[in-house]
Amino acid sequence: MPGMPTVNLSLGARSYTVHVENNSLDSVGYLTGRLRLSGKAAVISDSNVYPLYGDKVIQSLTDAGYSTSLHVFEAGEASKNLSTVEQIVNEMVAEGHDRSSFVVALGGGVVGDMAGFIASIYYRGIPFIQIPTTVMAQVDSSVGGKTAVDIAGGKNLIGAFHQPALVVADPTTLLSLPPRVLREGMAEMVKHAAIRKPHMLHPLHRLADEIDLGFTLNTIERLPSIIAENIAIKARIVEEDERETRGVRAYLNLGHTLGHGIEASVPYGELLHGEVVSLGLRGALWLSRKYCGLSERAEREVLDTLAALELPLTLPEGVEVERALKFTASDKKFSGGSIRFVLLAAPGEPVLSEEVTPEDLAAAMQLLTTPVTR
Ligand code: NAD
Ligand code: GLY
Repeated sequence: MPGMPTVNLSLGARSYTVHVENNSLDSVGYLTGRLRLSGKAAVISDSNVYPLYGDKVIQSLTDAGYSTSLHVFEAGEASKNLSTVEQIVNEMVAEGHDRSSFVVALGGGVVGDMAGFIASIYYRGIPFIQIPTTVMAQVDSSVGGKTAVDIAGGKNLIGAFHQPALVVADPTTLLSLPPRVLREGMAEMVKHAAIRKPHMLHPLHRLADEIDLGFTLNTIERLPSIIAENIAIKARIVEEDERETRGVRAYLNLGHTLGHGIEASVPYGELLHGEVVSLGLRGALWLSRKYCGLSERAEREVLDTLAALELPLTLPEGVEVERALKFTASDKKFSGGSIRFVLLAAPGEPVLSEEVTPEDLAAAMQLLTTPVTR
């Protein structure tokens, strides 16, 4: 809508706009119409999100003249796999979708990653729209065009780069999130602050308090600008290095190498993505002190913020160090046998290092079995 806060991604023919505004779900049809998409919409959502917001989105698309089909799968990371993809693709064929169709991803990062992947392969690629409904998806996964599903061998190992044609983030959808999911998404905000804008850590402490006490009207009014500031950080990085070939986009993986290893070592969905990123950040900052002189104070500020958000800093019961290390070794951030590990030289100054050894990774994973010392 005119005046709606936006973040633009300038990617040539793949450029698009992220709209961030409270109650913007009602505008999905109007915003889609402006893209001149003329085909039928395949709305993909999960079993938690569809009952909450599905009708609103479908109504908005219908009002704008679109016909829709609906594809709902069981919520959770355990569904982000090829068998759900095949099931939805078959449903789309049965609904008569063709190359003029487009996909609408309504939900968190699981929906967005999988629906985006389906859009990237259906008829060799059709457009898609992201409507993210978690903190994780609004500040990170809906923007940047990484789509993927998991396999038994690791997280996100099958996927494609496929940029959305539009992102509509409505922060009021976050009000229905369980506190655990609200908190985990903020791990990516901590990461954004660490790599680009350290001053953003302080407001996260305030948000942490507000999660405990319940969001007020004031929190809700502040959310669009907090979310847009995070999206802008990611947008500028993606513009610089869309396909992660220039070493810049890799900075967004701070905390993710160890994190993905931990996440894949337990049944998918047992630990939330942001929770393992929190653990991975602790390990990465410890290695940053060893290899690039990160100060203890800078490390402490990040860990304190994660602790304030009640995100885990020690491995939860059931995570086995050796098993997590095995999955860390198969993470795709290992390039040609050596590890490209993201470290933090100083607040706002990430670096890519090839010095981190497998022994360092083992030591960092072991560190995560011990409490943070003051
Ligand atoms: P998710 O999509 O599983 O959502 C978490 C839970 O919240 C689910 O149960 C979901 O049904 C529920 N939910 C979603 N929105 C809700 C709402 N508004 N109200 C109530 N419940 C709601 O998980 P997530 O944390 O959003 O995303 C994690 C996924 O994102 C992981 O698979 C991760 O790999 C991926 N990811 C991708 C990128 C990328 O760049 N593509 C970046 C970060 C994370
Ligand atoms: N979430 C990391 C990236 O999009 O590159």
